[in-house]
Amino acid sequence: MKIIVLNGSPKGDISVTMQYVAYIRKRFPQHELKIINISQRIEKIEKDESTFQEIMDEVRTSDAVLWAFPLYLLLVPSQYKRFIELIWERDAQDTFKDKHAAVLTTSIHFFDHTAHDYMRAICDDLEMRFVGAFPAHMRDLMKEEGRGKLFLFASSVFDTIEKNAPAPKIFKPVIHGKLDYIPSAVQEKIDARDRKVLIVTDSEDSQTNLGRMIQRFKDSFSSSVEVMNISEMNIMGHCLGCLHCGFDYVCQYDGKDDFNELYRTKVQTADVLIFAGTIVDRYLSSRWHMFFCRSFFSNHTPSVVGKQIGLIISGPLSQTSTLREVMESWVQFQQSNLVDFITDEYEDSAELDLLLTDLARRLISFSEKGYIRPRNFLGVSGMKIFRDEIYGGLRGVFQADHRYYKKHGFYDFPQKNYKKRLMADIMTLLTRIPPIRKEFPKRMKKGMVQPYEKYLNK
Ligand SMILES: Cc1cc2nc3c(=O)[nH]c(=O)nc-3n(C[C@H](O)[C@H](O)[C@H](O)COP(=O)(O)O)c2cc1C
Repeated sequence: MKIIVLNGSPKGDISVTMQYVAYIRKRFPQHELKIINISQRIEKIEKDESTFQEIMDEVRTSDAVLWAFPLYLLLVPSQYKRFIELIWERDAQDTFKDKHAAVLTTSIHFFDHTAHDYMRAICDDLEMRFVGAFPAHMRDLMKEEGRGKLFLFASSVFDTIEKNAPAPKIFKPVIHGKLDYIPSAVQEKIDARDRKVLIVTDSEDSQTNLGRMIQRFKDSFSSSVEVMNISEMNIMGHCLGCLHCGFDYVCQYDGKDDFNELYRTKVQTADVLIFAGTIVDRYLSSRWHMFFCRSFFSNHTPSVVGKQIGLIISGPLSQTSTLREVMESWVQFQQSNLVDFITDEYEDSAELDLLLTDLARRLISFSEKGYIRPRNFLGVSGMKIFRDEIYGGLRGVFQADHRYYKKHGFYDFPQKNYKKRLMADIMTLLTRIPPIRKEFPKRMKKGMVQPYEKYLNK
């Protein structure tokens, strides 16, 4: 069997992800696993149509495609996203149609499920026959259990392909809205006072809904609003995953292009941030994803703390829940406040007018009050993964994160709350006494609310 491995790591062959592929290759010598480095060669693939066609020829003559990539900013690397866009731009979807597909990722499990959802949706959109996914932790291969699971995954993928088993689809094709948004004049404008409002976008084209939504949003203010167009920004390239930034947040592109400087001077200094973009396939554009991946120079340290953030999206956001979850999670990790998403999925322009202007009002109001919504599972659980990884396996590489985490009390473990721990021990002992154990459920309800009393009777 011939499997084409589309390698998403910008590090090419010398990557963690490819060690997993090498292991499969070693255990299943009867199958050919041909690796094509996608992310590492994206500039060539983009500029040179024949290189792209060579890859399509390999896919065409294969029995299956293995999408193998490292997690980058809760998704695939931006180079890989660009490759996926090229499949549609160059009308090559048919090459993938009815091919078997599997997904293999390596990561530290920080939102690997969103990357898997994205890739599964892409496979469904390409009408591929999805046979399985393997979300490895980057160190799993060093453990017997991890190797065992990888072996079983690979054998099940080969089996399923050989049996030509039916493949379920879970994502329906997205349906695009029809609104041609025509904004009207803003009646009551919002005064941002001393708040710095920055719109970051990948397009200001006034012929599109996105361009007009941005204009309406800008016009909602009586004060000036700055726009930063990342498509016009001098960005030399995608994040290469070199980890140059790990010691002191110094990126290897520093001084070579404008990204880091503009991120530091404009994005990090704004009070209110608007991210505006059009949905391309199942996410924002690869240019947008490149922006997020390049912001990794601040590693796992929040870089835009305490901001009010709004999203203006043109496209079917209601059908791309992965995009919503990624944005929510990223903002919560940043300790900022995601005020809302406004899309053009409405029937009439007047409704969208009101929503955009009200977004402006809410952003300024929350900014003045300093309101940051409590984190939910996305932010709380995500932070615990970073805390454990930076304290443990990744500390040597991400020394700047470690200093920040120490200084800002991110290392909230092991739990040092001696009073609570002692109380828990006493309660455990007491509830071993049968009469107390019997009484316990009756007293528990009251006991649980009793500590709140002093705050309510103030
Ligand atoms: C720019 C960048 C972004 C990353 N984003 C994530 C992430 O969102 N979630 C995660 O679990 N790991 C993330 N990682 C960790 C990598 O996915 C992980 O180290 C992976 O095993 C690297 O594989 P590779 O050597 O094949 O490139 C990120 C690493 C880099 C360099």
